[in-house]
Amino acid sequence: MERKHKSRGPGRLILPLWATALLVSLAMILAGCDTTDRMSTFDAEGPVSLLQLNVFYVTLWVSLGIFVVVGSLLVFTIFRFRAPLDLPRDAELPPQTHGNAALEITLTVISVALLIVIAVPTVQGIFKTNIMPVSEDAVVVNVTGYQWWWLFEYPKEKVRTSNELVIPIGKPVILNLRTADVIHSFWVPKLAGKVDLIPGQYNQLWMQADRGGWYYGQCAEFCGESHANMRFRVQAVYDQDFKQWANRQRQTQVAPAGGLALEGYNTFMKGPKVGQSCSSCHTIKGTPANGVLGPDLTHFASRQTLGAGMLPRNDQTIHEWLTDLNGVKPGNKMLDAHLDLTDREVDALTAYLDTLN
Ligand code: CUA
Repeated sequence: MERKHKSRGPGRLILPLWATALLVSLAMILAGCDTTDRMSTFDAEGPVSLLQLNVFYVTLWVSLGIFVVVGSLLVFTIFRFRAPLDLPRDAELPPQTHGNAALEITLTVISVALLIVIAVPTVQGIFKTNIMPVSEDAVVVNVTGYQWWWLFEYPKEKVRTSNELVIPIGKPVILNLRTADVIHSFWVPKLAGKVDLIPGQYNQLWMQADRGGWYYGQCAEFCGESHANMRFRVQAVYDQDFKQWANRQRQTQVAPAGGLALEGYNTFMKGPKVGQSCSSCHTIKGTPANGVLGPDLTHFASRQTLGAGMLPRNDQTIHEWLTDLNGVKPGNKMLDAHLDLTDREVDALTAYLDTLN
C-alpha cells in the first residue's frame, strides 16, 4: 500500500530533467566567479593578471551588449511578425524584401568598431605579457615540471627549491618554463594566466605580485594520474626578506650530531635496504645526497607543505607520506622504490627531515 497515488511516483518531478541539468550546470559555472576563492582569476593581484582581467571584462561587456541587442530584436521580431493563428491556408504572403544597403553598411561599421574595441586591449595585452620586462630588478626563475612536482631554480641567486616559489613584492619575475617529462601548465590564477611547459620547447611567462602573501598555483594541463595533486605556492615577501630567504637557502646542511635525527640521516643516505636510499633521488646540499629525480630537500623544513603543496608539512603528514605514498599521491615515482620502512625508520627520517631548516 506504499504507492496509493500513482502520481506520487518518481516520475513526478518539480522541474523537468533538462531544466534541473541546466540549473546545476549554471550553478557550477557561476561558482567559478567566486572572487573570494584563493585561486580566483577575478581577484587579480599583479599587473599581468590585471591586464588579462581587463581584456576579459572588455570582451564580456561587448559580447553581452551584442547578445542583449540581437536577442531583443529577435524576440521582438518573432512576436511582432508571426502569422495570426486564424490565418487562412491560402492567404497571400506579405510583401517580400531583399537587401538594404544603408542597414548593411551600418551593421558592418558597428561590427568593425566593436571588433576594434576588443582588438586594441587584446593585442596590447598579448605584447605586454609575451615580451619579458627588461629590468635590473627582475628575478629570473627556471621552472621545471615533473610528474608531479615543480623544481624552481634561481640562477642569479644560486638557489634551488621545490614547490614553493618565493618572490619579492612589486618586482617582475621571469619564469623560464621547461618540462622533464610530459606537458604541464604553470598557473597562479591571481598573478598571471597559464602557460604550458612543453617537451623540447622553452616557454616564458612573467608575473608580478603587488601585495605580499601566499598565492596558490596548480598544474593546469592533464599530465597523468596525479595531475590534480601537482600544486604549488608562491610567497611574495619584502625585498629584504627575499634576500634573507635566498641566503638561508644557499646554506648547506651537515649531518646531525646524534640521536634519532642521526639515525634518520643514515637511513636517508644508505636506505633501509640496498637500492632504497632516499639520497639517490633527492639532494641535500652538504651531504652525499645528490639525486635529482625528486625534489631538492636541502631546506625541506623551511617549506610549509609537502607532496607538491598537497599537505601541510608536519610530523604527522610526513608519517602519512612515508607510509602511504600511493594514498597521498597516486602513481608517484617514489613508489618505484618500494619503500618498506619500519616505524622506527619512519620516526628517524621524520626527526632528520625536521632538522633541514
Ligand atoms: Cu602537471 Cu598536470
